[in-house]
Amino acid sequence: VNIRHAVSISDLKRLAKRKLPSFIFDMIEGGVEDEFGVARNRDALKRHALLPRMLADINERDQSTSLFGRDYASPFGISPTGPGPIYHRQADVILADVAKANDIPFILSGTSGASLERIAARSSEKHAWYQVYAAKDHAITADVVRRAQDAGYETLVATVDTPVTPKRERHLRNRITTPLRLTPHMIRKMGREAFLHPSWMLQYLRLGMPMLENWQPYVRVGASSDEVAAFFRSQSPSCQTWRDMEMLRRGWSGKLVIKGILHPNDAVQATELGIDGLIVSNHGGKVLDRAPAPIEMLPRIKDAVGDRATVMMDGGIRRGSDVVVARALGAQFVFVGRATLYGVAAAGQEGAERAVAILREEIDLILGTIGCRSFDQITSDVLS
Ligand SMILES: Cc1cc2nc3c(=O)[nH]c(=O)nc-3n(C[C@H](O)[C@H](O)[C@H](O)COP(=O)(O)O)c2cc1C
Repeated sequence: VNIRHAVSISDLKRLAKRKLPSFIFDMIEGGVEDEFGVARNRDALKRHALLPRMLADINERDQSTSLFGRDYASPFGISPTGPGPIYHRQADVILADVAKANDIPFILSGTSGASLERIAARSSEKHAWYQVYAAKDHAITADVVRRAQDAGYETLVATVDTPVTPKRERHLRNRITTPLRLTPHMIRKMGREAFLHPSWMLQYLRLGMPMLENWQPYVRVGASSDEVAAFFRSQSPSCQTWRDMEMLRRGWSGKLVIKGILHPNDAVQATELGIDGLIVSNHGGKVLDRAPAPIEMLPRIKDAVGDRATVMMDGGIRRGSDVVVARALGAQFVFVGRATLYGVAAAGQEGAERAVAILREEIDLILGTIGCRSFDQITSDVLS
């Protein structure tokens, strides 16, 4: 398949798989342990059927959605997905640009390649949000938050679902390290694969581990990208508690979103801290293999939180119909992680654009086929 002929997110996944060496593709695709969680996220979405209404006047359809008082062109945004440059050298910048051009939000990862300042300078406070990963050294976390404020970010996302290093078995088998080094084992294991993915290989051999620019200020001046990545690894994961969240809320005057909530009681506790929103998420099945799918917990969380905070969701979204189902079950907005990453890995800017366009077109068609003129009309009534 050529990128222009990719008609679904799975087509983009196939193209990404072809482009990347398998141990890099595994970093996107892999879950934890038996990878039940990754499958469960899709299965739980698939279980819901949409019940169409006929003969509605759907000639003009509008999928724009408001979130935190702003109107976005579509009801989905881009989740944070680690250091983009591992998958495509410009991935962080491309995802930020594509989000802005399509008027949707993009969450820059706390482990991005591009610095939060660089992304803020080319995006806007509406389209770029920043995700913070707490460091073991609290002074670093506080400084990152200050930098995000100084750079003009309006929305800060605290990911709280990874208190320990998850057992990602594909990584362990592939002997993936941070910093990511092409060890003799990997090169031997790749064998002919190295020749099947020459563009990625040559680039990596030439440029090496991408610089984690956000962490650069905390390492000695002139430190290599390997040193910075090793420093990041020594600081993360850092175990956080509700007290840290309280402090974050006190210190951040913009919108504060907590990502990685699954228990309704945690959702309520977060709401009581005065957070603005939460993303119901199991990190795309990458942390706890036996975690429920976010879509399974969404209705209970929405019931528990009500309108006190904005409830969003991510995990397993590959189709426009998934976005509609999530809305029907109580999500104001959804995010995609792998969908746009497949696109950018497969074909850079064009691939990321394609991923967004595919989802947008599918949402439009689903609205038409179920008899809804606007996304705001979607309620639990659209479920069978
Ligand atoms: C390769 C990869 C890297 C990720 N890195 C981060 C990260 O840096 N921060 C974070 O909060 N979540 C991270 N996640 C989780 C995503 O933000 C998101 O929750 C998940 O991908 C959603 O599931 P989906 O991929 O099925 O859409 C990552 C996910 C993937 C696939």
